[in-house]
Amino acid sequence: MSLECEDSMEKTYALGFDVYGTLVDPLALAEPLQALVGEQAARFAKLWRSKQLEYSFRRGLMRRYADFDVCTRQALRYTQQALRCELPESDQGRLLEAYLYLPLFPEVAASLSALKAQGHQLVAFTNGVEASIRALLTNVDVLSQLEDVVSVDDLRTFKPDPVVYAHLARRTEHTPNETWLVSSNAWDVIGAKAAGLRAAWVKRQPDALFDPWDVEPDIVVNGLDELPTWFAQRSG
Ligand code: LAC
Repeated sequence: MSLECEDSMEKTYALGFDVYGTLVDPLALAEPLQALVGEQAARFAKLWRSKQLEYSFRRGLMRRYADFDVCTRQALRYTQQALRCELPESDQGRLLEAYLYLPLFPEVAASLSALKAQGHQLVAFTNGVEASIRALLTNVDVLSQLEDVVSVDDLRTFKPDPVVYAHLARRTEHTPNETWLVSSNAWDVIGAKAAGLRAAWVKRQPDALFDPWDVEPDIVVNGLDELPTWFAQRSG
């Protein structure tokens, strides 16, 4: 159900925020990796992230679900093999623990407060496991800004399977057209649009590419801080 604010006639929406890459930065793991793998750190962090995603996509297609924490763990093992830098179990454990303390992008907390004050329904919407995401968002102190954590784990498949976007709309009790995905991941935005949702692409890097699939986001922003003004100016 959507809410209409009588005074300003400003329309409110359900906003589902992707977590990894949108609210928090998984590539920040390059920093603790420095001490472990030296100059390979940035490459390690990138390969780990891309394998984690690839494993989730493949598991979705194969219908061999294992949760995102498993994908993250197995991608860590792959990355060590690929870069020929086997880490002791204790270091692997610390890296996986660091996933629960990924840093928030700097504009996120204030932007969520502003969007919440506008009356939008804010939820985390993630491939991550709900308990892990709740722990992470508590550690970075934004869980209280969000009404809920909607995880694909409920459905045992992953974004960009269309059923998970429909699940977001259902869980927030909004029509797909009143439900927004906010994500820095272009593949996620395309998934949401294909399922009939609206989508904001957060283009965090100037050189980030949007896949040429003849699908466009409804809005492109450089950070979440541009969203409150955009929604305030929007009439419907
Ligand atoms: C998320 C990952 C896939 O859903 O970015 O949070």
